[in-house]
Order: sequence, then structure tokens, then C-alpha cells
Amino acid sequence: MKTLGMKNSPILIIGKNGKTGSRVNQRLQALGYDTRAVSRSTTPSFDWEDSATWAAAIKGARSAYVTYQPDLAVPNAEPAIKEFVRVARENGLEHIVLLSGRGEEGAQRAEKILQESGISWNIVRCSWFCQNFSESFMLEGILAGELVLPAADTIEPFVDADDIADVAVATLTDPSHRNKLYELTGPRALTFTQCVEEISDALGRPVKYTGIPVDAYINVLNEQDVPEDYQWLLRELFTVVFDGRNSNVMSGIEEALGRPATDFKTYVQKTIGSGVWNTVMQKESA
Ligand SMILES: NC(=O)c1ccc[n+]([C@@H]2O[C@H](COP(=O)([O-])OP(=O)(O)OC[C@H]3O[C@@H](n4cnc5c(N)ncnc54)[C@H](OP(=O)(O)O)[C@@H]3O)[C@@H](O)[C@H]2O)c1
Repeated sequence: MKTLGMKNSPILIIGKNGKTGSRVNQRLQALGYDTRAVSRSTTPSFDWEDSATWAAAIKGARSAYVTYQPDLAVPNAEPAIKEFVRVARENGLEHIVLLSGRGEEGAQRAEKILQESGISWNIVRCSWFCQNFSESFMLEGILAGELVLPAADTIEPFVDADDIADVAVATLTDPSHRNKLYELTGPRALTFTQCVEEISDALGRPVKYTGIPVDAYINVLNEQDVPEDYQWLLRELFTVVFDGRNSNVMSGIEEALGRPATDFKTYVQKTIGSGVWNTVMQKESA
């Protein structure tokens, strides 16, 4: 069921070219919805670091899909979401769908702010995305034939961003989902070693996973001049969030969509089809 009233005003998407925002945008447009997808590089622009940009991006929209940058786990996220919700109310937003992360205390604080805001809400709380292997910081390792990370044998039920986008679109367009939290995971929990083995087997070329201690990983990031707040975030993600608390498989995709979550194998096949793993990079010598 679609709300015709909502079709008259654009649906705001914060994170236009992001892994999920781009997919949500494509799906809504294919369904005939008017969208306004924003980020720092769009007009109007939207920058989480500059609250003066928010009102102009929001004005005229009645619902929004919101992805926070860089991650709801960072200390700045809580005050930013508090202020965002205030500006959203002031500028007429009636419904916010927030992309959130599992097992992150900061993310859960942000969720609570939205849930208590008086605006109608959905929370799409996700496990690690499969697309981190193909559209984010793990791509380089796959192309170089060796992914080096500080994750030991923890299992993670990686979720496909296409499933996340399907759930986000359902919550944005069908009022029967209002004020529900969906916890989304893939159907199988895998270690990084297993993920990389599946990718390597399907690609037909050697790619291996190497685990290293978190301090050694952070030292490498430091040598590469990765900003300190990003180093902090990665340490948080690989220690606190990756301590096993998120290993259980959840049924949020089935609950929201009435169909099973996409398996990692299907994600791998789709990604091979996209050609993104075709380039083979030379490993930098130490
Ligand atoms: N990756 C995971 O495994 C995972 C798991 C659970 C939850 N999450 C959550 O997912 C969210 C990210 O969503 P996503 O992966 O769909 O997005 P994404 O792929 O990380 O989005 C990247 C886009 O964000 C824009 N951006 C960067 N900094 C910005 C800023 N200061 N203000 C506005 N836009 C900015 C950039 O566009 P411009 O350069 O044009 O600004 C960039 O194209 C985070 O909150 C994260 O906590 C991620």
C-alpha cells in the first residue's frame, strides 16, 4: 500500500551515493516517487559537520531516509542526531527511517532520540554489510589478493545492501511499518576467512584473509596518515562491535518483506557480475 500524499512531496535521502542511499534512491524513483538525494557534493548540499546546511535540504520533504556519517558509534553522533531531529520537526518532516548498526552503544542512543522525538520513525538496524567487500574499505584487499584486518574468528551474519534498501523502501512507502525497528542480518554467520574463501573460490583466483592484532592494524593506519577519529572508529568496530555480540542471525528481513534474506553466495555472484572485482592490484611491498 502506498500513501498518495507522500508522492506529492519528495522523499529526502541523506547519503546520495552511499552503499544504501544510492539503492534506496534508485528503487523509489523506479516506483515513481519524487526523491531529493543529498550529501556534501549535491545542491542543496547536506553536511553532517555543518548543521547550517540541514534546513534547506529538509524543507518541503515529509519523509526521509537517514544515513549518518561516518558512523553512529562516534561520540559526535548523539548530539548531531538530537539536533537533526529538532531541525527536522521544525521543517515539517513527519517520518524518519534511520539506518543504524547492531551492538553499538552510540547507535542505540541515537535510535532512542528518534524513537522519543514525536516524529513517526523506523529503525533499520544492520549487521556488517556484504558490500564492505566491494564498495568500501575492504575492496582494496580483495583486489590485492590479501585482506588484512584485526578480526579473529568472530562470526558475522553479513547483510546485503540490496536487502537493506528493500526494507528501507518498504518502511518509507507503506505506513503499516510505522514505528517498528527491524534488525537486519544475512541468513548465515561467517568469519572473514570464510567470506574471503567464498569470494576467492567464486572468482577463481587466490585471495586470502590475514588477521593481525588490532594495535598493529592501527599502527599501519597511523603510518598511512588515516585521521585519528577514523582510527578510533575502526578500533571500536573491530574490538567492541566485533566481540561476538552480533553473531546471531536475525529475522528482520523476513519480518519486513515476507521473504528470506539474501545469502552471501548470491551477493558474491552478483558482485562478480558487476565487474568490480575484475581489476587485480599489485601488492605494495613492505
Ligand atoms: N558498512 C557497514 O557494514 C554498516 C553496518 C551497519 C550500519 N552502518 C551505518 O551505515 C551508515 C552509512 O551508510 P552507507 O554505508 O549507506 O553510506 P556510505 O556508503 O558510507 O556513504 C558514503 C557517502 O556519504 C557521504 N558523506 C560522507 N561524509 C559526509 C558528511 N559529513 N555529510 C554528509 N554526507 C557525507 C559521501 O558523499 P559526499 O562526498 O558527496 O558527501 C559518500 O558518498 C553509517 O551510519 C554506518 O554506521 C554501516
